[in-house]
Amino acid sequence: MVKVITYGTYDLLHYGHIRLLERAKALGDYLIVGITSDDYDKTRGKINNQQSLIERIAAVKATGIADEIIVEEYEGQKIDDIRRYDVDIFTVGSDWEGKFDYLNEYCKVIYLPRTEGVSSSEIRAEKRKLIIGTIGEGNLCKKFIREMKFVNGVEYKECGDSLENVDAVYVATHPDNHYSDVKRALEAGMHVICESPIALSLSECQELMNLAHEKNLVLADAIKTAYSTAYSRLLVVAKSGRIGDIVSVDAVCSSLADGATEQGVNLSKKQNSICAWGPTAMLPVFQLLGKEYRSKSIVTRILDKNLNYDGFTKIDFVFDKAVASVKVAKAAKAEGELIISGTKGYIYVPAPWWKTDYFEVRFENAADNKRHFYQLDGEGIRYEIVAFAKAVESGRHNIYIGEETSKAIVGVIEDFNRHNYTEI
Ligand code: CTP
Repeated sequence: MVKVITYGTYDLLHYGHIRLLERAKALGDYLIVGITSDDYDKTRGKINNQQSLIERIAAVKATGIADEIIVEEYEGQKIDDIRRYDVDIFTVGSDWEGKFDYLNEYCKVIYLPRTEGVSSSEIRAEKRKLIIGTIGEGNLCKKFIREMKFVNGVEYKECGDSLENVDAVYVATHPDNHYSDVKRALEAGMHVICESPIALSLSECQELMNLAHEKNLVLADAIKTAYSTAYSRLLVVAKSGRIGDIVSVDAVCSSLADGATEQGVNLSKKQNSICAWGPTAMLPVFQLLGKEYRSKSIVTRILDKNLNYDGFTKIDFVFDKAVASVKVAKAAKAEGELIISGTKGYIYVPAPWWKTDYFEVRFENAADNKRHFYQLDGEGIRYEIVAFAKAVESGRHNIYIGEETSKAIVGVIEDFNRHNYTEI
């Protein structure tokens, strides 16, 4: 029996794919089709497949051409598969001509002519694009606009104050203005992705969420860390029981880049530490331990009382069976690591944990330690944009950051703004 293997993403299955599969099958008696996993595609720079792995597998299966479907998950897997399945022929389309010659050592390699005039990319591009504008200036907006270029199906347009010509907006103004900017955008019928915190009080936050629900619009919290693969996996590992029961979450985020400690800096234009870093630092606390804490205490070093500008803030939470501590600073520097301690082991994410592609699960016996790597491109911002565009298209909101998490974050910041803290 001649065994043939071929690989691909097979997003939005089209007749170019089907012709390839038919000819691949005709090369032998048994056809194995390797379909790339979503994670593997991310590492290859394909971040915006329209269909999930399950949907893509179902589509290939429905053709009835493949005898066996496998998932391609890592670089170098092709050699393993060829050996494991005792493959005689490896084949792909001619767009890969020459790229897989190294497999000749293991089996016969055949490049089949690619079908002209059709590709998944073109089909994706034909779909109407989501036009996104920005409200705010500065680096965050610049980065967001730059990252949009990496995402199919979205396009940047300047929207001005009138918010015309766009379907959605990214809000990155000073946190004092988030509420009014988000409200204005939602009232104008725009989907919104807003830097966290969405508002500075729980009542305003709830009002915005209600408005979004009423108008059937997406209101997303833009904490980029939440959308990164490493962070998502870390949540899964921590919740799976691998490190036992979680007893403590300790997150530190600091940056001196804003120049808050320098002489003559106009702090009124800058975000204070609790707004700039609080949402990111509190994210793993609420996502891992829940939103119902028994008590919390905030200790802060205020740089400018009138502006409510904290240079350094530490928040301690007590939950029923765990504690958490968050340290945020724009006028102090510390190791920006995240540690999740459990009864059997702990998860360590090195600095800067909020844009990490790596974490370690560590145990008493170091031989049991596990390292996890996941590709992170564009600091996670492009994944955030992909998730936002998908939420708008599917109408399924808040998959990555639930409303309760956003509200828990806003609640702490509101308390801070009410001066419910100890000053040092
Ligand atoms: N293929 C083909 N003819 C086409 C498109 C794809 O023969 N018009 C082949 C590819 O060469 C590959 C397989 O189908 O062997 C799966 O390709 P995949 O990369 O999933 O599809 P594309 O349409 O090329 O996707 P994209 O536009 O995202 O690159």
